[in-house]
Amino acid sequence: MANNDPAIKPKAKKPCLITCTGRCNPHRAGMEPRACLTGEPTWKKLLEYHQKKGSKFHIRDLFEKDACRFSKYSLKLITPNDGDILIDYSKNRIDEEGLKLLFQLCKDRNFISARECLFKGAKVNFTEGRQVLHTALRNREPEKNPIMVDGKDVMPEVYSVLNHMKEFSDQVISGEWKGYSGKEITDVVNIGIGGSDLGPLMVTEALKPYASRLKCHFVSNIDGTHIAEVLKKVQPETTLFIIASKTFTTQETITNATTAKDWFMKSAGNQEAIAKNFVALSTNKQKVTEFGIDEANMFGFWDWVGGRYSLWSAIGLSICLAVGFNNFEKLLEGAYFMDQHFLNEPLEKNAPVILACLGIWYLNFFGAETHALLPYDQYLHRFAAYFQQGDMESNGKHITKAGNPVNYHTGPIVWGEPGTNGQHAFYQLIHQGTRLVPADFLMPVQTHNPLGNHHQLLLANYLAQTEALMKGKTEEEAKKELEATKMRPDELKRLLPHKTFEGNRPTNSILVKKITPFTLGALIAMYEHKIFVQGIIWDINSYDQYGVELGKQLAKVIEPELANEDEITSHDSSTNALISYIKENLAK
Ligand code: F6P
Repeated sequence: MANNDPAIKPKAKKPCLITCTGRCNPHRAGMEPRACLTGEPTWKKLLEYHQKKGSKFHIRDLFEKDACRFSKYSLKLITPNDGDILIDYSKNRIDEEGLKLLFQLCKDRNFISARECLFKGAKVNFTEGRQVLHTALRNREPEKNPIMVDGKDVMPEVYSVLNHMKEFSDQVISGEWKGYSGKEITDVVNIGIGGSDLGPLMVTEALKPYASRLKCHFVSNIDGTHIAEVLKKVQPETTLFIIASKTFTTQETITNATTAKDWFMKSAGNQEAIAKNFVALSTNKQKVTEFGIDEANMFGFWDWVGGRYSLWSAIGLSICLAVGFNNFEKLLEGAYFMDQHFLNEPLEKNAPVILACLGIWYLNFFGAETHALLPYDQYLHRFAAYFQQGDMESNGKHITKAGNPVNYHTGPIVWGEPGTNGQHAFYQLIHQGTRLVPADFLMPVQTHNPLGNHHQLLLANYLAQTEALMKGKTEEEAKKELEATKMRPDELKRLLPHKTFEGNRPTNSILVKKITPFTLGALIAMYEHKIFVQGIIWDINSYDQYGVELGKQLAKVIEPELANEDEITSHDSSTNALISYIKENLAK
């Protein structure tokens, strides 16, 4: 697998506008801890605004008072080839004054210089001493725009790995690359977890209309059922295993990879066969070779790529195999398009900034606990799951950069299901429950599967939901409806409160012409940047994940305890009793 294909040339379309203004000092990180958020004068103004105005808004009234509300509070992002991306944020409990304050808060929190630091390679992930440079992975103008890490431009290496990915995926898809017995590869099994699974899985599902001839499978869970079920569907001779792990130490991945290797070796019989049917995606050469995968079959990346931001790196190899390298490149181009938008547009016209500000508004001023991502596209059925990790692992933090506990809420609970399934499951609570659930409704105007009137109905449902959530149904309207059924007055009185909808439920409508690799890349990057902006406002490190470690450490202690005969007394009484129960039942 030589890596000398100069075929991938960066496609320069418009001049890159990343210019260093000198505000960013990569060594000092430019991400200095901020004053306490709740002590910021703008925060206090926002509190006042919320009390006097914001909390009293009904979105229906805002529309009635202002015929231009949609044009004032919507954005069209014009993409080069894949239509416009429309972001309608007019159905929110906010007006110009509130938005101005939120943008001011961004500025007060040094967002402008923090953004520059992120793109320029400051050690934004300061607890781990690392840059956060997923944007370098999709930098389509590397010559104009070198990205320096420790004094060295990383762009040549980024493109070298991309070339490797292109060459390899082309060979596998064309059938030139053969499995150990000389047969073409038919199936790809990506073994990884978290960021080494969720991104590639979400994207390959989202881009199924662009599928190559290869069947892609994903194994993540340490539950043996996951790999057992996948292995039932594939043959050792014609399966390519991708072991995807940034660290190459993750228990789930290494356990699944070892099971896959043992299963494979039963048929292949010799170690050399591994070179034809196993590749690794990792930053850890030593562990990869120790596992038995040749360095030549390793696609590298770097510690400045965070796991949950890694689908743009070698971790995207399964995407290349699933949809072809040219589509992977388009995904990168879409993300680059959004990066440029995020970098260059003023805050008032900046999609990630606007979405972030609205999120702060509901979470910190209205006490909203969650944020729903509701894609009206079956192909996007893993989108919310993907951003569960993206957002919750990033902003699920309670310590400021200076190491103090925050006195405000940070990251929302992110959740969602594709429409219209969600409508028949949890929308009732959004419409009439006691909690405020801000939601993003995502929709492609065109479908990849124009079957009868399916898409028209889907579109109608999409539009109806945000309208209903916003308008609700007044008592008067409900009464009229019930009267029209000639209902007895006492029965009408009884039913009326149940049939009334308060409305005033905030939503953003995000539309693309079609889900293409480009528009998908742009949407993913938009949410990545939203997470970044919120992390800056909350003054937290969005790029470490120490919280995940404790459970891993304790699992290592418990695992041998499950295997021995001893009575376990070293934990709390609940954990001890649970271990005993499991041991008793394992033995039977
Ligand atoms: O869940 C914790 C985590 O470290 C994620 O951040 C990461 O995406 C995942 O584990 C997998 O890690 P690796 O790619 O190193 O196997």
